Amino acid sequence: MPVNLRGRSFLKLLDYSPAEIRYLLDLARNFKDMKRAGTPHRYLEGKNIVLLFEKTSTRTRCSFEVAGHDLGMGVTCLDSGSSQMGKKESIADTARVLGRMYDGIEYRGFRQELVEELARYAGVPVWNGLTDQFHPTQMLADLMTMEEKFGYLKGLRFTYMGDARNNMGNSLMIACATMGVHFTACAPRELFPAPELVEAAKKIASENHGSVTLTEDVSAGTRDADVLYTDIWVSMGEPDSVWEERIRLLRPYQVNAAAMAGAKKSAIFMHCLPSFHDTRTAIGAEIAEKFGVPEMEVTNEVFESPRSVVFDEAENRMHTIKAVIYATLC
Ligand code: CP
Ligand code: NVA
Repeated sequence: MPVNLRGRSFLKLLDYSPAEIRYLLDLARNFKDMKRAGTPHRYLEGKNIVLLFEKTSTRTRCSFEVAGHDLGMGVTCLDSGSSQMGKKESIADTARVLGRMYDGIEYRGFRQELVEELARYAGVPVWNGLTDQFHPTQMLADLMTMEEKFGYLKGLRFTYMGDARNNMGNSLMIACATMGVHFTACAPRELFPAPELVEAAKKIASENHGSVTLTEDVSAGTRDADVLYTDIWVSMGEPDSVWEERIRLLRPYQVNAAAMAGAKKSAIFMHCLPSFHDTRTAIGAEIAEKFGVPEMEVTNEVFESPRSVVFDEAENRMHTIKAVIYATLC
C-alpha cells in the first residue's frame, strides 16, 4: 500500500510503521541530495509553521527553521517565557489558536502527554521536538546516518550506553526494534527503560527480525557492536541534585577506547549532542571541578576520532525534519 502521511502528527515512533519510517528516510535522502546540489525545493510556499520551545535547543530549532525556509514557508519561533502557553493559557487553548493560524506546530517540552494533547486539539500536524520520554525526529537522523555509514539497517548490532530510560534510550530502543536493528541497552539496572516499554519494543522487534537486550555488563554489551551510542547523563529538566548519583551509576558506562575496542573494528560512535566530552562548557567545567570528572559520557579521544559520526548525525537532523514537515503537510 502506498504511504501517505498527509495530516499526520509525528509524536513518537511507536505510532509509525516500518514502511512509513522507510518512506521518511528515503524522502530525507532526496532532500539531502537536492540541498547538496543546490536544487531549490520551495514546495510548501504560502504555508506557515510555528516552533514552540519550552526547553533550550540548537540542532532541533535550527533544523526546523532551515527546513521551513528551504521549503519556502514562513517560520515563527516562540521560546519558553515568550508566549502565554502554560502560564496564562492551557495547552488545549493554545493548540486551537495556533491551529487557526499555522499549518503545522513543533513542540519541545516536558511530559509526552503535553505534546499529545497539543496534537489532539490543534487540527494541524504537530511534531515532537523532544519530550522527557521521546525524541522522534532525532531517531530519523540517527537511522539515516547509520544507513549512510553501513548501507543497510536490518541486522546491525546497536548498543546504547548510559541513561537507558531517558528520551534517547526509550526512542532508540523503539527505532531499532522497528527497523530490525538488534538493540542492546548497556546500563545500570536502575536506569533500564520501563518494563512496559521494553515489552512493547520486544514485540515490535520480533515482528521485524530484530531483538532487544538489557545488560549491566559492559564487555557483553559492547561485544561485536556495529554502533556504540551514548547521551548526556543528566537530561534537561532534571534537578542538579541528581548529578552525584548519576555520575556514580554511569561512570562505568562511559564510551572510551576500551569500550570501542570491545565493539567491531568497523564500529562507529554516535551521540545526539550536545555532549560533555571535555571541559569547554560551563557545566562540563563545573562537574570536572566538583566531581573530578573531566570527560563524562564519552572521552574526547573517542568523540574526536574518525569513528565518530556525530556531526553527520547533526546535519541529518535538518534533512530528516524537512522530510517530516513535507510528508505531513504536502
Ligand atoms: N540533539 C538535539 O536535539 O539537539 P538540541 O537540543 O540542540 O536541539
Ligand atoms: N537526553 C537529552 C537529549 C538532548 C538532545 C535531554 O533531554 O537533555
